[in-house]
Amino acid sequence: MKTTLTVLLIIQLYGLASCAIKQHYFIDQMKTWNDALNHCRTFYHDLSTFTSATEEKRFLQEAVNQTSDAWVGLYKESGIWRWSGGDVATRISWDTTQPDNDNFAFLKISVKKLHDRVRADNRTFFCMTFEFVVMQQSESWEGALEYCRHHHDDLASLSSNRSKEYALSKITGAGTQYVWIGLRFLAEQWFWISGYEVQDWVKYGQPQCPATNQRCGAMNKNTQTWAPRDCEEKLNFLCF
Ligand SMILES: *[C@@H]1O[C@H](CO)[C@@H](O)[C@H](O)[C@H]1NC(C)=O
Ligand SMILES: *[C@@H]1O[C@H](CO)[C@@H](O)[C@H](O)[C@H]1NC(C)=O
Ligand SMILES: *[C@@H]1O[C@H](CO)[C@@H](O)[C@H](O)[C@H]1NC(C)=O
Repeated sequence: MKTTLTVLLIIQLYGLASCAIKQHYFIDQMKTWNDALNHCRTFYHDLSTFTSATEEKRFLQEAVNQTSDAWVGLYKESGIWRWSGGDVATRISWDTTQPDNDNFAFLKISVKKLHDRVRADNRTFFCMTFEFVVMQQSESWEGALEYCRHHHDDLASLSSNRSKEYALSKITGAGTQYVWIGLRFLAEQWFWISGYEVQDWVKYGQPQCPATNQRCGAMNKNTQTWAPRDCEEKLNFLCF
């Protein structure tokens, strides 16, 4: 347990660069920043983020034909700009004279640059999903976590029905019946290691207090549900 927490903490402190492959979607509904965030986390994966020049280019390709300003997953907390999901934003393409002291960012569509604004404004927005990759090698849960964080972005969290369905379609080709996902039982609850809220299918699908050696989550490709498994078991795993 102690080792696990240390590993999780160390990896988060170093804040490895994101390299997940993202698909962006323009959502033509007017919402406040918070409602947009909830919508994306319920139906996609998150509000759109783009942390590198390459990611930004991909994002702008999706935005090229849109005509209205749209929220993205970037906000300021205690004076620090962060990408949705929590990473500190070190590279932000602000428009000239921006930011001007508000706390939530949107894409100013006429110039394809970011502006900041108060969260209560209603705007259209961009959601994203991540592409999942099944690793056809077997690792313990922590081994899988380290591998994904080193070679991809993270061990996959299935924060929406869409992600769950997508994950199920991906793992049909796995070499093991169970496949590790980013689900962990610590401090008396199950949580996604990327910080997303757990949905009812996770919360109520399984015993609330699993045996001490059954505290890592895996998808069962035969029954299409998740199950608590022994963290030391060597299984294929799903990264994004
Ligand atoms: C943008 O519009 C052009 C011209 O209609 C089209 O060829 C292109 O595929 C569109 N791009 C996106 C990302 O929808
Ligand atoms: C945004 O939309 C909501 C719901 O339609 C509305 O209650 C709210 O007043 C709007 N906010 C602004 C700043 O227009
Ligand atoms: C997700 O799927 C479950 C079961 O099919 C359903 O009850 C729930 O309403 C869905 N959630 C959303 C946000 O669509």
